[in-house]
Amino acid sequence: MRIAMIGAGYVGLVSGACFAEFGMQVHVIDADPSKITALHEGRIPIYEPGLDALVADNVRDGRLEFGTSLEAAMEGADAVFLAVGTPSRRGDGHADLSYVFAAAEQVARAAKTPIVLVTKSTVPVGTGRKIKEIVTRIRPDLEISVASNPEFLREGNAIGDFMRPDRVVVGTEDGPVGERARELLRRIYRPLFLMETPIVNTSLETAELTKYAANAFLAMKISFINEIADLCEKVGADVHDVARGVGLDGRIGRKFLHPGPGYGGSCFPKDTLAVARTARDFESPLTLIETTIAVNDARKGQMADRIIAALGGNVSGKTIAVLGLAFKPETDDMRDAPSLVVVPKLVEAGATVRAYDPVAMDHAKGLLPDGVHYASGALDAAKEADALVVLTEWNEFRALSPEALKKAMRGRVLEDLRNVYDPLTMREAGFTYRSIGRP
Ligand code: UDX
Repeated sequence: MRIAMIGAGYVGLVSGACFAEFGMQVHVIDADPSKITALHEGRIPIYEPGLDALVADNVRDGRLEFGTSLEAAMEGADAVFLAVGTPSRRGDGHADLSYVFAAAEQVARAAKTPIVLVTKSTVPVGTGRKIKEIVTRIRPDLEISVASNPEFLREGNAIGDFMRPDRVVVGTEDGPVGERARELLRRIYRPLFLMETPIVNTSLETAELTKYAANAFLAMKISFINEIADLCEKVGADVHDVARGVGLDGRIGRKFLHPGPGYGGSCFPKDTLAVARTARDFESPLTLIETTIAVNDARKGQMADRIIAALGGNVSGKTIAVLGLAFKPETDDMRDAPSLVVVPKLVEAGATVRAYDPVAMDHAKGLLPDGVHYASGALDAAKEADALVVLTEWNEFRALSPEALKKAMRGRVLEDLRNVYDPLTMREAGFTYRSIGRP
């Protein structure tokens, strides 16, 4: 089985390396030659635990290669996967599909034999049909079967999610042309059958919407627990116990009920916005999702207000240590990270910010205001700080000793926005400690 993967971004690289690990012959291409050069030199352009070893092993064993030529990648390929970016379009929040359509056109032009063209990128409902129109217009002589196979990968856990998914969603066209794609994707995902992974076979539109519905639902769960956490603080309840008591109901489930400073990342903010816009276009508004977006947007600013309030309402001339800048641990991804709202607000209010993140600082530097001091470690960030804020729950922050923190800091304010510390321990150590939704 030969696979051409278009796009060496996050999804393309992880999926390509995992397909190769399944035993397939995979050729990953990207329009950016510098990315391919880096990959040839064994450098992985993204931070994802385990990916460097997976790529190296499969390159060494001759199953995975990288290049810039679509023609070379498509030589003898049974399936072509589209894994190009679909960023939010400036101005209207719709997904920008120009990369997807351009790639589909190029594939149609380059195809020599009937192929299956599979979209992995997250695309709005109806995109698969448009891709079909494009490829049919360009190549009426050739059968190009269009399929949708959305990914559900979490950054930081992407390889595990790919290798042991809860389900695989496959959307195809009607009739024999769709059956051909379904059969091919069944063969591609055969290694997962051993684990009895369910395959959900659907139409193109259903598969496309399933991806958005999944992300929107998870985002809604997070905003829900964040609001419950706020109420917990007011009434003296503990949000962790509420989440457990609620989540043990199998109808609800325990995951994604962890309160925090608001969700970020490359998917939830972009996908909730895109599906809400689509729904408006079809005059079938997703009011719950629109509210989820508003709740989450407001939350990030509220976190800065909360820190300022903890310092007595005025942070001018004060030093605040911020631990964690990435939108979550185990990634260097800064997209829509709460830090992008919280840190500028603190700086604007006159605070000196000393920030530290184990891997995201290089990315953060271009995005956060000038004047932010980047520390060499968590304790270095805490140096002479009036307050310490945990913004991302990296494991190394959990291990910090209260005594060492106290020694480094000037003040005693500790705002734990990820609930990584035990409130009692921190209060007994002398901190003015606050976490999210715990008494
Ligand atoms: C998400 C989806 O999980 C994945 O299935 C999809 O394909 C892409 O989007 P990802 O963005 O990598 O993955 O990260 P995820 O672990 O889902 O976290 C997203 C955001 O929600 C982070 O900012 C995280 O801190 C936040 N979050 C998550 C919470 O605040 N509470 C939770 O309980 C879970």
